[in-house]
Amino acid sequence: MERVSKIIANAGYCSRRKAEELIQKGKVTVNGKVIQIGDKANVSDMISVEGNFLNREDKEYVLLYKPRGVVTTTSDDKNRKTVVDLIQTSNRIYPVGRLDYDTTGILILTNDGELANLLMHPKSNVDKLYVVKVKGLVPPVMLKKLCNGVILDGKKTAKAQARAKKYDKKSNTSIIELTIHEGKNHQVKRMFEALGYEVLKLKRETYSFLNLSGLTSGEYRHLTPKEVKKLYNEVLNEKK
Ligand code: URA
Repeated sequence: MERVSKIIANAGYCSRRKAEELIQKGKVTVNGKVIQIGDKANVSDMISVEGNFLNREDKEYVLLYKPRGVVTTTSDDKNRKTVVDLIQTSNRIYPVGRLDYDTTGILILTNDGELANLLMHPKSNVDKLYVVKVKGLVPPVMLKKLCNGVILDGKKTAKAQARAKKYDKKSNTSIIELTIHEGKNHQVKRMFEALGYEVLKLKRETYSFLNLSGLTSGEYRHLTPKEVKKLYNEVLNEKK
């Protein structure tokens, strides 16, 4: 038996707090009966929230090597290919966070609302390593600026790690590795743009301890139970 608010949040319907609000408003029923805050239910119970039956399908965790030219949503009004279209599943999985249309690399998709919320929480400190190709030479003083924080929307970005991997004189382009744990919109591109650099290519190489090894662009695999547990541990330990 589990608290109904937790079951609702785990199903990805809404946050636990919002679920409690809905319970308080009498909008949640278990087997047809309106329930109270703190009430519990089990797997076979039919839970309805605001008149909709809760979908309690099995949890699925996918690690996708996102290719360029695919949108990170579950559906697109312009009919473009979405990351979910690349995965064969009957579950309603959705992406954890966002990679831009032209960004490639590691992306987690799941129907586990609890883990997705924890990973996407602004306080989640999950490290993500990006490989960034930019126009021009990035000298140590600029790397230091990336590390110490760049002002975006009037606020300094959190401490990061930046390393120059390569400079190609002929094309006048640099490859930089940048590790950040925040997830502001277009953060990497905007950090470089704030310093006067145009991002030509962007790839996310790692997400926490996970990487793309064994996958080529467009391929995916399922996370192992051990990896799922480790991800939970990472985000729950950070919250302490
Ligand atoms: N930062 C960006 O600018 N774009 C992405 O897709 C991911 C991080």
